[in-house]
Amino acid sequence: MAKQEKAMPRHVAIIMDGNGRWAAKRMLPRKMGHKAGAEALERIIEAARQLGLEHLTVYAFSTENWKRSVEEVGAIMDLLRLYLKNYLQKFAKDNVRMHVIGDISRLDADIQEQIRNIEEMSKGKDGMTVHIALNYGGRDELRRGVTALARQVQDGVLEPEEITEDIISQSLDTAGVPDPELMIRTSGEERISNFLLWQLAYSEFYFTDKLWPDFTEEDLKDAIDQYCGRERRFGGR
Ligand code: IPE
Ligand code: IPE
Ligand code: MG
Repeated sequence: MAKQEKAMPRHVAIIMDGNGRWAAKRMLPRKMGHKAGAEALERIIEAARQLGLEHLTVYAFSTENWKRSVEEVGAIMDLLRLYLKNYLQKFAKDNVRMHVIGDISRLDADIQEQIRNIEEMSKGKDGMTVHIALNYGGRDELRRGVTALARQVQDGVLEPEEITEDIISQSLDTAGVPDPELMIRTSGEERISNFLLWQLAYSEFYFTDKLWPDFTEEDLKDAIDQYCGRERRFGGR
């Protein structure tokens, strides 16, 4: 079958991996890798916006990442504070909306407050939406969604037979967002690591050996070009 060019993806998801190895290669502490990673994210958000993506979802901190040392988790949280503060200055003027997925109730109160402020402030923006996955795990997201649906059944407002795939999608943190057509993972690892388990069912995967802080605008374009020239069958013919 001839390869057909596909339209630009509407939604790209990225597992931003390799910050620690980037730092180790330079004999720097891991937190410097995370700092460089945050800078890479700013560049990639701008590039994604210019390319005309509607949604960009980035994996910033997983439900498993709490297992790291107190120092590293603390450094990541401090960077997050700084990032959110900078966002208010840098992206506030752009037409970029910010939305967080994941269970933020485990984050420090001041960070939760910052997130709520930014989400509220950027609500009306109708350019690209950046979804930042914080204390996010695909299984935890499904667990929370299932609990919410079970509650509705218990309350008598939903019949078990009415639970369609669409209802499950709407119970997730990404409710209303189209599934990503493309998922990128940097650093040479080829696994999902509990990212968007439900939403990635039909996504194309793009893996690169580049470490996240080294990932450039050109790499993003390359991933999208590869995607556009690829054929997808959705299990049909
Ligand atoms: C990804 O980089 C960032 C987070 C998980 C917070 P890593 O910190 O996982 O970097 P490597 O995989 O150790 O190189
Ligand atoms: C996935 O990377 C999570 C983030 C990028 C935030 P990890 O480095 O935590 O995943 P594993 O340990 O390689 O599966
Ligand atoms: Mg890693």
